[in-house]
Amino acid sequence: MKEWYNKINEAQSVDALEEIRIAVFGKKGILAAEFAKMKTAPNEQKAQIAKDLNNHKTALMNEFTAKKIALQTQELQEAMKAEAIDVSMFSTKSSAGALHPVMETMDRIVEYFSSMNFAVKTGQIVEDDFHNFEALNLPKYHPARDMQDTFYFKDEMLLRTHTSPVQIRTMLESKPPIRMIAPGAVFRRDYDLTHTPMFHQIEGLLVDEEGKVSFANLKFILEDFLKYMFGDVAVRFRPSFFPFTEPSAEVDISCVFCKGEGCRVCSHTGWLEVLGCGIVDQNVFKAVEYKNVSGYAFGLGVERFAMLIHQIGDLRSLFEGDIKLLEQFQ
Ligand code: PHE
Repeated sequence: MKEWYNKINEAQSVDALEEIRIAVFGKKGILAAEFAKMKTAPNEQKAQIAKDLNNHKTALMNEFTAKKIALQTQELQEAMKAEAIDVSMFSTKSSAGALHPVMETMDRIVEYFSSMNFAVKTGQIVEDDFHNFEALNLPKYHPARDMQDTFYFKDEMLLRTHTSPVQIRTMLESKPPIRMIAPGAVFRRDYDLTHTPMFHQIEGLLVDEEGKVSFANLKFILEDFLKYMFGDVAVRFRPSFFPFTEPSAEVDISCVFCKGEGCRVCSHTGWLEVLGCGIVDQNVFKAVEYKNVSGYAFGLGVERFAMLIHQIGDLRSLFEGDIKLLEQFQ
């Protein structure tokens, strides 16, 4: 019997202890066998043997219960240790970033015009009066300058109000023919639902021999481009004014929200204005000393395109860096 006390005490796990329980207390266990042997013992010894065996049975059972509780407690503590969470530990989970919706839209626009053989030019963000206004047929004190008020530095330097100065820089540094686009940041003194002081434009310019570039060419490429960007929309050209193009037009697409029925976004007109364009004014060619050429130009706001594509209500939210908003466009 003694060895069974030792076995119980030396058991290493609840499972091992269970095996011992079966070997001791089970139907075919040692206690059952000892009680069975009693039958063949002399009658006068039977009472004593039974008493001894019952004492052992109780003692072994106490031993077993105590050991079981000890082992269970130990196993529980080990499990808790293994599964413990360190709440002070930094999260090591990382997530991949994605392009900002404005940059993604810009990439798509650049992709279209690259496929049409337009070269990509960048120009510079801090411009001088000559490139930003004067050479674009916007003389000093011309009232059309009021539409594009911006941030000035000393010596007639300013943050460019549009990407059109890149037209001038490109023409001054190269000879016709020219096919270029200029994506980049521009600055104006505006701030409301649809205007921010910094935004992005894409300029387009095509110059070739006199008589080779017509309004029909301009119309074709812009219609094709707008269908590429917005799908099956109607496109219309409205006469307008820009000092650097003559004739000039503003281009509308049928409202992408209400399909032309009329809604809040399109001010119940069914149309959304998306870009400005025209045939390059001869005064612009004079300023860069180009002779016997014709050309067309256009300019568009990238944020406006991103807003229409993603149906964003407030243009300013694009610049707040709110991850919850931006994650929706991944
Ligand atoms: N530069 C003009 C603007 O910012 C857009 C434009 C570009 C219009 C080229 C005509 C031709 O409003």
